[in-house]
Amino acid sequence: MRSPSAQPKRSTAASIRRLLSEAYPERWSFAAAIAVTLGAMLAGLAMPLLMRRIIDGPVASGDLTTLLWLSGLFLLAGAIEAGMFYLRRRIIATPVTMLEKRLRLRLFAHLQRLHLGFHDRWPSGQLLSRMGGDLSTIRRWLAMCLVFFVANGTVVITGLAILFYLSPVFGLIELVAMLPMVVISWIFEQKYKTVARRAQDQEGDLTTTIEESVQGLRVLKAFGRGKDRLKIFSAQARALRQSELHKAKLLALLWPLTMLLPEIALAVVLVDGGLQVAAGTLTLGTLVAAITICTYLDWPTRSIGWLLAESNETASAVERYYEFMDTEPSIVEPKRPKRPARPVRGLLRFEDVQFQYPGSDIPLLRGFDLELKPGETVALVGATGSGKSTAIGLVNRLYDVTGGRITLDGVDIRDLGLAELRTLVSMAFEEAVLFSASVRENVAMGSDRPVTDEEIEQALAVAQALDFVRELPAGLDTQIGEQGLSLSGGQRQRLALARAVLAKPPVLVLDDPLSALDVHTEAEVEAALRRVMVDGTALIVAHRPSTVLLADRVALLADGRITVLGTHQELLHSSPEYHRLLSTMEDDVEAEVAVP
Ligand SMILES: Nc1ncnc2c1ncn2[C@@H]1O[C@H](COP(=O)(O)OP(=O)(O)OP(=O)(O)O)[C@@H](O)[C@H]1O
Ligand SMILES: [Mg+2]
Repeated sequence: MRSPSAQPKRSTAASIRRLLSEAYPERWSFAAAIAVTLGAMLAGLAMPLLMRRIIDGPVASGDLTTLLWLSGLFLLAGAIEAGMFYLRRRIIATPVTMLEKRLRLRLFAHLQRLHLGFHDRWPSGQLLSRMGGDLSTIRRWLAMCLVFFVANGTVVITGLAILFYLSPVFGLIELVAMLPMVVISWIFEQKYKTVARRAQDQEGDLTTTIEESVQGLRVLKAFGRGKDRLKIFSAQARALRQSELHKAKLLALLWPLTMLLPEIALAVVLVDGGLQVAAGTLTLGTLVAAITICTYLDWPTRSIGWLLAESNETASAVERYYEFMDTEPSIVEPKRPKRPARPVRGLLRFEDVQFQYPGSDIPLLRGFDLELKPGETVALVGATGSGKSTAIGLVNRLYDVTGGRITLDGVDIRDLGLAELRTLVSMAFEEAVLFSASVRENVAMGSDRPVTDEEIEQALAVAQALDFVRELPAGLDTQIGEQGLSLSGGQRQRLALARAVLAKPPVLVLDDPLSALDVHTEAEVEAALRRVMVDGTALIVAHRPSTVLLADRVALLADGRITVLGTHQELLHSSPEYHRLLSTMEDDVEAEVAVP
């Protein structure tokens, strides 16, 4: 599965600039970290100059007092260097972790806001790899590279200036050695960026495969398809390895090149300086100082290649982060939300609704009209794939209609605040989704205000789930979902139903909510539902004749619209289409019953 990410759109500098603008609130901490690092490195740079004073002064003249206090100063510079490096680590941790947390929270919040259409397009592994990998790349860069970029850059320039001051020839030699390194790094930057990005995308694909395979483990085992998944996985792992190898090769080439050049420069300085000292035109102290500075500049200079590589990787991490963040949710709040008149009656109307999935060629719903009066329960039936789940998902704006409108008590649902709409319309989906939390928490999700245990128990009773919940090891506190107790399909469905009816919403939308229940339990749930839904409106997708019987009226969806509408009895007599559909449903039920 390829991720839909495009090729890099921004330059490295632009991405880094954007990251830096995020770090604005922590600017003083970052500045402090940079300052102490710079202090440490400048103290290090002062030491060769002190050495020069010591060698040319007291060492030559035998002045013990001066030797002692200059050596003391030397020691002090060393202590300052060590102390400041300690401080750097201490200072930098706070702003970096703070910023990382902020980016992470914002990403998560944005994922929640994004419309479903977005999640349809993005494999979940890409999300996981962004949450994990990219953010730690960014953290590493902020903690190390940002500081060393400034500090090492300054130190290189200062060191060069000192060399020029000691002897213009030394400065020139060092400069000549440094320039090709910049060019090499620059070429390297171009190549590394592409490979780094490819590797990150491949890692995302790999995560998707792992995730799907873990989630689908039962299916894979049942069909003995583990080997096939392994094949796909190993192909992806191979591709990732190639990219990582490519990265390593590039890096391997960079290091010796950037290592060799300073060493050549050092040799030339030694020869030239040695000759000058022999000729008496240069003091020994100056030569020692120059050599020490050249050696000292070795790491800051060499680090430029590494810093650039890291910056590239970080820039692509930043770019990917914003690829997500810059995607605007297409389901948006109205500018001026309207409030329906109170109490909300639940008059739900589909008016000439059109709907087309993004990326599909033909509209799925074409002129879908349906009216549900307050207190009425309508069953929506239709062949599989006819668009029933899609149609009811439009009611609380999981997707927006692409034409026509849906109104609740006469107000276009797009004019209602999203939070309000979603409290007015409650849903239960085809697949009951439970979270790793207690039964209480899972059910309480159905309401936006705090609920009492009594309310939860009432909802459980409607869903005929109270008895089995009471028998769970810790009752309402039993942990379920991935980290806890596993429930049967029917139990899961009933909890999801309890969640949907908890808030006693004016509009209840249920997608085949009773499919996993036996006919007896289904009848009990239906009777209870009827009692609680006397005032509310319910739209229920039905796949079984027994569910259809729950409804006051039945709507048949075919060719993207409601073709037949009426009571079950009416349709049974008047509509051959309905008759046909019902008999296939009955076949399905018989088949279900026949399965041992
Ligand atoms: N997220 C999506 N993106 C693109 N197409 C989709 C998406 N979800 C569903 N479809 C397509 O829309 C059509 C209708 O799907 P839908 O789930 O609404 O059918 P349904 O009537 O609920 O079917 P079933 O009875 O099997 O539950 C199908 O052809 C499906 O492939
Ligand atoms: Mg469906």
